[in-house]
Amino acid sequence: MRREVVFVTSEMYPFSKSGGLGDVLGAQPLALHRMGVPTSVITPFYGRLRTADYGIHLTISDCHVGYPWDPITCDVYEADYHGMKVYFVHRGEYFDRRYYYNDHKGDYFDNCERFIFFCRAVMALLRRLGTPPAVLHANDWQSGLVPAYLHFWRQTDPFWADTRSVMTIHNLAFQGRFASRLFTGCGLPPQAWTMSGVEFWGDFNVLKAGIAYADMVTTVSPSYAREILGPAYGCGLEGILQARQHALHGILNGADYGIWNPAQDKFLPCRYGPEDPQGFAGKQRCKTALLDELGLAPELAHRPVLGFIGRLRGQKGIDLLLDIVPRLMERDVGVIILGEGNLAHEARALDLMETYRGRLCAVVGYTEDLAHRIQAGSDIFLMPSRYEPCGLTQMYALRYGTPPVATAVGGLRDTIMPWPSPEATGFTFGRSDPQLFLEAILDAVHYWEHDTEGWRAMMIRAMRQDFSWERAGRSYVNLYRQLGFDFS
Ligand code: ADP
Ligand code: GLC
Repeated sequence: MRREVVFVTSEMYPFSKSGGLGDVLGAQPLALHRMGVPTSVITPFYGRLRTADYGIHLTISDCHVGYPWDPITCDVYEADYHGMKVYFVHRGEYFDRRYYYNDHKGDYFDNCERFIFFCRAVMALLRRLGTPPAVLHANDWQSGLVPAYLHFWRQTDPFWADTRSVMTIHNLAFQGRFASRLFTGCGLPPQAWTMSGVEFWGDFNVLKAGIAYADMVTTVSPSYAREILGPAYGCGLEGILQARQHALHGILNGADYGIWNPAQDKFLPCRYGPEDPQGFAGKQRCKTALLDELGLAPELAHRPVLGFIGRLRGQKGIDLLLDIVPRLMERDVGVIILGEGNLAHEARALDLMETYRGRLCAVVGYTEDLAHRIQAGSDIFLMPSRYEPCGLTQMYALRYGTPPVATAVGGLRDTIMPWPSPEATGFTFGRSDPQLFLEAILDAVHYWEHDTEGWRAMMIRAMRQDFSWERAGRSYVNLYRQLGFDFS
């Protein structure tokens, strides 16, 4: 039996998604699988999953996990997802909840227990399946203990001896930091409790465990890989990241063009593409339909419409956008905001919608299909992130011919060629400052108004950018090769 790369993740689209992590894990393992790398995925069985979808069926019942008390078990469900196996760890008390990690009151109180349980269940399941993986590929803090278990267990248990691990950081700001007492009984030996291990200012830091003990650490863009080595973006982990710098790689995510492609997007009222002579007419029809759907003034069909999609959190710089709305309105543009998150930002966005009825629409909530229609129906995509490990929405915006205006950070810097370069695909500004953001938007609006041909050429260049997973997948295959595996 060929040994596999096993992805461990708390989200995988279409089974679960709260943001980009879900998109990435919905595409990356499958892309590798299609490239001939034997791949499978292990993820939680959340309450909203229906077993009828994708033929999900029970494969192991009562798999012994032994955390937090010894007799505890999980059930394991399995699906064949386009020829690739996906395993779902089921334990209702942990995963059968309305949200993944938090509700409006804050993080679930037992997140540490939930994801220690998950990581231990992953190890128990792999043991039970009987073939040690070639590579265990963990993602974000929720699976951060997996590389740590592997590191310690393979020292004494021959089953794990030839398995290697990769820890991918999708967002360093979410670390899974908990009280030290939760370390007790998690399954790591006492020697992991050091400054170069899981201990972090007296607390138990789960992501740090993954960074400290994985054989390779990756993050989701080359720029972010450099940024996190310093205090401005390192979130306190810059020390351990510097210590592990030789094992740290920045690999730009891909976009799943099977799902995010205006030429075949099932959520759009009509489809379009860069080669299509009707392309601009098609996008214009998507715009008119979107204005109608959201109750925006029909005259905006002849003015630039600016779209924002994202978590309403500090990371995404939504406050910068809300600050400059009055100035934008003076320029007679339309603004569409889709997002949820911080209650104060949500309320402020809804207030602005009252003030600028017909010109600004804020949809508070999470709506997958509307996100597609905003990508297609906007002229300019706004992404004033304070930091951005990779960012997928700007990649989607490029493909939908919606040039982004974005902060020049992280993955935004790596994916957008800024105006006024002749190769420009969008607009960037230096740091997250509302005035700089406003100026960059006004540059874009001015260009849209005064140079129709130039703008169209920019749209076509944007739509032809290729951030496919085939390209990113090759970088991961090279990484696995460096760990000693050749899957070809
Ligand atoms: P992050 O993972 O930091 O949230 P990304 O740009 O990598 O940012 O990915 C965000 C993903 O989540 C995209 O697929 C985007 O369309 C989606 N998304 C974010 N907020 C919403 C929302 N309110 N409704 C629908 N989709 C959303
Ligand atoms: C995180 C990051 C985002 C990235 C996504 C997928 O949520 O915030 O920048 O695109 O993970 O890697």
